Amino acid sequence: MDFDFDFDFDFDGTSKKALAIRVRMREKHPMTILPCLVALLWTQPAPDPGPGLPRRPYVQHVTPEGLSLLWQTQRPETCDVRLRSLTTRDTWERTSGPAQHHEVRFEGLVPSARYEYTVSTAAGTFRATVRTAPATGSAEPFTFLVYGDTRNGHGVHRALAQVMAFDDADFVIHTGDFVSDGQRHDKWNLFLEYSWPLMRRMPLYPTLGNHENAFGDGLDLYRRNFEVPDDGPFPEMVYAFTWGNSRFFVLDTNQAFSGAPQTSWLRTQLAEAALDPRIRHLFVSLHQSAYTSGPHGPQQDLLDSGLVDDLRHHGVLMTFSAHDHFYERGRVDGLHYVITAGGGAPIYAIKTHQPHSLVTETVHHYCRLRVEGDLVELTAVRLDGSLLDSLVLRRAPGPSEGSGPRHVVVREHRATGRETPAAFVAPPGPPPPTLPWQDDAPRSGVDAPRSRNPLFGAALVLGGAAVALLFLALRRRRRS
Ligand SMILES: [Fe+2]
Ligand SMILES: [Fe+2]
Repeated sequence: MDFDFDFDFDFDGTSKKALAIRVRMREKHPMTILPCLVALLWTQPAPDPGPGLPRRPYVQHVTPEGLSLLWQTQRPETCDVRLRSLTTRDTWERTSGPAQHHEVRFEGLVPSARYEYTVSTAAGTFRATVRTAPATGSAEPFTFLVYGDTRNGHGVHRALAQVMAFDDADFVIHTGDFVSDGQRHDKWNLFLEYSWPLMRRMPLYPTLGNHENAFGDGLDLYRRNFEVPDDGPFPEMVYAFTWGNSRFFVLDTNQAFSGAPQTSWLRTQLAEAALDPRIRHLFVSLHQSAYTSGPHGPQQDLLDSGLVDDLRHHGVLMTFSAHDHFYERGRVDGLHYVITAGGGAPIYAIKTHQPHSLVTETVHHYCRLRVEGDLVELTAVRLDGSLLDSLVLRRAPGPSEGSGPRHVVVREHRATGRETPAAFVAPPGPPPPTLPWQDDAPRSGVDAPRSRNPLFGAALVLGGAAVALLFLALRRRRRS
């Protein structure tokens, strides 16, 4: 009989390499197939577990007066949720379900205040603290983190998120390509598991990447996984939010930008923000960068659409992108661009250094931004905690209207060796967080990755085939 099978090794999510093995057998016997089947099952990617896997509670859509909690249980159940103010001792109680996917929102909270939430499920009780956003226009200092292209680099992502958690930031922006395939529940479970040191106590603002499969089924999962302000032309893909004295715009650059509804929406939003005296800094997150020294090259559509001109005209300080897996910082007529795509995906080599590029490094990393009134400090930190790059900018006095850069460079430092970022050694504010979780819940539902070495799997398949052939040969010899 003929016995064929194919299987894929998922090396990086895009370049699947197929290994096809054809075993031609002249005799039919189940024992000849069994070793091959065992090897095949061993090497296959983990089966899609469906939506039933538990996701520990995580924080989304934090505003000065509200916040959301999301989690997933093993089976449909009703969960009790309690939110307690750590300053006034006021409490709010909710129930959620019966359902597997849970979303609970609290409103009527106080800006810049700490709250403790408790989620009680059949699998255990989970507790953490979260802080609401400062009031719009507040000069209160805050810190946010930016990283992207985590994809299937689970080991790096897990380590990086734990390093990032020591920064005690207020929120995190992900620049896209969260997972290798946005249609896979199990991939999203892994992302949410490994980013949990951050997401359990701060909101993550997502940027849609090409790997989220926005044109397939992935978009439904993407929207389900995150909750963000519903104020843009494409719900949860294009949106804006304010944190203190800064306004953030998240765009979808996976679709053509020229003439798209988000173009006119963005122009209106930028014009309003530029005229708002409470807003001192504007930031934009978009997966593909208009400028890059990487293999994807500059995004001509973004340049042709006039997007970059709009950003400069309205005084946007900085853009954050991903897609080319490395770190790059540059400046074009006062507009600073940062490519931060070192969250775990395979690192790319620099292809062509662009004339606007100031710093490039092919390394896993993340970015930390500290905003203190008119000062903005960008620090890029490698996975090992060492300083990669730093930049301090100050908002210049003067009117918000009119074109041209509104920030001046105070200090710029490209780390040439292994320097330790000062803020990393002695982070401002409270000490690094302890783990307040009562993590007594059984973790059987959490989709820990199976240890699968593709070479080991291939050896198993070939070994299985050899055993089968040996078995056939022995049978034939016995008959003869
Ligand atoms: Fe990408
Ligand atoms: Fe990518």
